[in-house]
Amino acid sequence: MPLADQESSTNKEPSEQQTARREILVTSALPYANGAIHLGHLVEYIQTDIWARFQKARGHECYYVCADDAHGTAIMLKAEELGISPEQQIETVKAEHEKDFGEFLIEFDNYHSTHSEENRVLSEEIYRRLKANGHIATREITQAYDPEKNLFLADRYIIGSCPRCKAEEQYGDNCEACGATYAPTDLIDAKSAISGATPIAKASTHYFFTLPEFSDFLKEWTRAGHVGDEIANKLAEWLDVGLQEWDISRDAPYFGFEIPDAPGKYFYVWLDAPIGYMASFKNLCDREGIDFGRFWAKDVSTELYHFIGKDIVNFHALFWPAMLTSAGFRTPNKVCVHGFLTVNGKKMSKSRGTFINARTYLEHLNPEYLRYYFAAKLSSGVEDLDLNLDDFIQRVNSDMVGKVVNIASRCARFVTNGNDGVLAASISNTELWQRAVDAGETIAAHYEARNFGKAMREIMAIADAANEYIAAQEPWKMAKEEGRAAEVQDTCSLAINLFRVLMIYLKPVLPDMAKQAQVFLNDDLRWDGTIEPLSNHAIEAFKPMLKRVEKDKVEAMVEASREAAPAATAPVSEDVEANNAIEALAEEISFDDFIKVDLRVARIVAASHVEGAGKLLQLTLDIGNETRNVFSGIKSAYKPEDLEGRLTVMVANLAPRKMRFGVSEGMVLAAADDAKGIYLLEPDSGAQPGQRVT
Ligand code: MSP
Ligand code: ZN
Repeated sequence: MPLADQESSTNKEPSEQQTARREILVTSALPYANGAIHLGHLVEYIQTDIWARFQKARGHECYYVCADDAHGTAIMLKAEELGISPEQQIETVKAEHEKDFGEFLIEFDNYHSTHSEENRVLSEEIYRRLKANGHIATREITQAYDPEKNLFLADRYIIGSCPRCKAEEQYGDNCEACGATYAPTDLIDAKSAISGATPIAKASTHYFFTLPEFSDFLKEWTRAGHVGDEIANKLAEWLDVGLQEWDISRDAPYFGFEIPDAPGKYFYVWLDAPIGYMASFKNLCDREGIDFGRFWAKDVSTELYHFIGKDIVNFHALFWPAMLTSAGFRTPNKVCVHGFLTVNGKKMSKSRGTFINARTYLEHLNPEYLRYYFAAKLSSGVEDLDLNLDDFIQRVNSDMVGKVVNIASRCARFVTNGNDGVLAASISNTELWQRAVDAGETIAAHYEARNFGKAMREIMAIADAANEYIAAQEPWKMAKEEGRAAEVQDTCSLAINLFRVLMIYLKPVLPDMAKQAQVFLNDDLRWDGTIEPLSNHAIEAFKPMLKRVEKDKVEAMVEASREAAPAATAPVSEDVEANNAIEALAEEISFDDFIKVDLRVARIVAASHVEGAGKLLQLTLDIGNETRNVFSGIKSAYKPEDLEGRLTVMVANLAPRKMRFGVSEGMVLAAADDAKGIYLLEPDSGAQPGQRVT
C-alpha cells in the first residue's frame, strides 16, 4: 500500500472556503401548556434543533428560541378541572416541557412563556400599531353561550347528537361516528360540554384584524419563496376564495391579555402566540445584551425561520406576515412546514399504545435513537412521517451501531495496543479520505435545505465505504503477521479518521454520541472550516458508545402507552356498525376454562380521576384480605364520589398491566360499549368483599 504524503490530502477546492457568517433566528411552534409533549411534537423540535445545531456548527451566529403557549380557554378549563390557578398550571407544565426537551437534547437558547411581561408589552404595542393603521375593526356577533358557566362556547365545547346518524355525545361541528359535518346549532339536544347546560345565543362586540386588506401583499409574499410550493398552492386556494377578517378578541372569562382600552375583552390566544417568538427572543436579548432590533426591525439582513406543522400554516403564512407588515416589523425568510407523525402507518392511538409521550419514551429508550430515525426520514416536504417500530429498531441498529460505531470499535484497540494510542503520521488511502471530506459540502447543502434524510444517506454511504475498506484490509489478520505492524496502524488510523469525519457530520443529530466521540478522539469535531486528518495524534481507549435498540424495550414502551379499553368487555370495536349491532357471542369454552378466571366481590373503597387520562378512573378495591389498584375506563359513566362504598365484581387473577399512569392489578366487570353506555356490575346486597363469584 503506497503511503501518500500529507500534501496530496490537503489539496483544497476554492469552493470549500466558508461563506460569510450569517445571523439567524430560528423558532419552533410554541407547545400548548395543557398537555404533555409526545412523539408527534418531537418531529418538530428535533428537526429544528438539528437545523439550529447545524448552523452553529458551521460557525454562524444562530439563536433557537421557543416558549410555552400559555393562553386560551382550554388551559383555563384544564386548570379549573385540576383545581389550580391557570398560573400554577402553566408553570407546572412548562417545567415538564423543559425537562422533556432537555432530555431529548433539544438545545434552546431560550425557552419562555407567552404569559410573560415581554409578551404583554409586545402584544399591546403591535395591537396599538395595527389599530393606528386602521387595521382593527369592531362589530357585534352572535355566538353560543353557556348560561350557567357564563362563557361563550367555541364549537368544540358544544356536544349533542349527530343530526344524521343520531350518535350521541358528538362534539362541535362534525360527527366522529358517521363523518357528517354541520353547524353546532344543528346538533340535536345541544349541551355545553363544560356544564351540561343548554346553550343560548348571545351577542357581543368582537375585534377583528382586517386581513383582506393584505390580500395582494400575501399573494405575492406566499409566492416569493417564503414557503414551499405545496404550501403556496394550498394558500392560493384560500387567497383565491377571498380572505375573511380575523376575529382576534375573546370575552371574559379568558386566560390571556386584556385588550388595551377594551375592558372584559382579551386577545385571542393565536394573536399573542406568534408574538411569543419575539417575546422569547427579547427575553434572551435582555439577558445577553443582544440587539433585538437587529433581528426584528424592517429591512434587516439577518435571517428569520419558523418551523411549524402543517396544521398551523394559515396563522404563520397569512395572519403573521400581515400583522408584522402592518406593525412595521420584518417578515420571516421562511416558514418551514413539516407533516404529521404516524406510528406503524396509522394515526397515533391511545388504544394501540402508539400515542407515546416523550416521558414514556425516555423511560425506555435512548433519545438519540429517535433523533437519528427522524433525521433519516425527514425531508423539506410536508408529507407525513411514519415511525414504523420494526423499521426503527432495524435502521438504528444497522446504521448507528452496525455502520458508524462499528468502525471505531473494530479498529481502536489496534491503535491503543499497537501504537500507544497514537494515530499514524499520514493518510494511507487518500482517495477514500478525500471522498469522505468532499462529501461534506453536499451533506451541508442537504442539512441547509432540511433534507436530513438525504444527508443521512450520504453519511451512511461514507460509513459503508469505510467498512468495506476495513473488511478488505483485515487488520486483525495483518496484526498476526510478521512485519505488517505499520500497515495495521495505517489502516486503523484511517478508519478512525473516517469515523471522526462521520461524527463531525452527525454531530447536529447525535450531540451526545458526538460528545463521547470527542473524548475518545481528543478532538472537538469542528465543522466550521476544512476538515484536516488527525495525524500523530493521541486518542483515548475506546468505550462502547451506543447500545443496540432492544425489541422488548420498544414493546414495553408501547404497553406503557396503552390506555385500557373500557372495563372488562371484549376489546371495544372501533367500527360503528358493530357498536349498533348485537355483538356475536364469543367462542364456546369448557368449564375448566371458565374456572380459571378468579372473579371476586370487591368493594370500591376509593375512586378518583386520573390526570391526563380521557376515559379512566382509578379505583382502590377491597377484596377481603387485600386491596387492589385498578384503572378502569368508566369515567364517562360514573363520578368517582358516586362509586365509593359500592360493591362490584372484579377479575382478581389477571396479570398486572403497566400503564402510563401506574400498574393496574385487575379489572372490574361492566356491560360496556360506546353506543349503549357503561354499566358496572353489582352483586345482590349482602355479598361480602373477597367472596368468589362462580
Ligand atoms: N400552540 C400552537 C402553536 C403556536 S405557535 C405560535 C400549537 N401547539 S401544539 O402543541 O398543538 O403543537 C406544537 C407543534 O407541534 C405544532 O407545530 C404542531 O404542528 C406540531 N405537532 C403536534 N402534533 C404533531 C404530530 N402528531 N406530528 C407532527 N407534528 C405535530 O399548535
Ligand atoms: Zn353521525
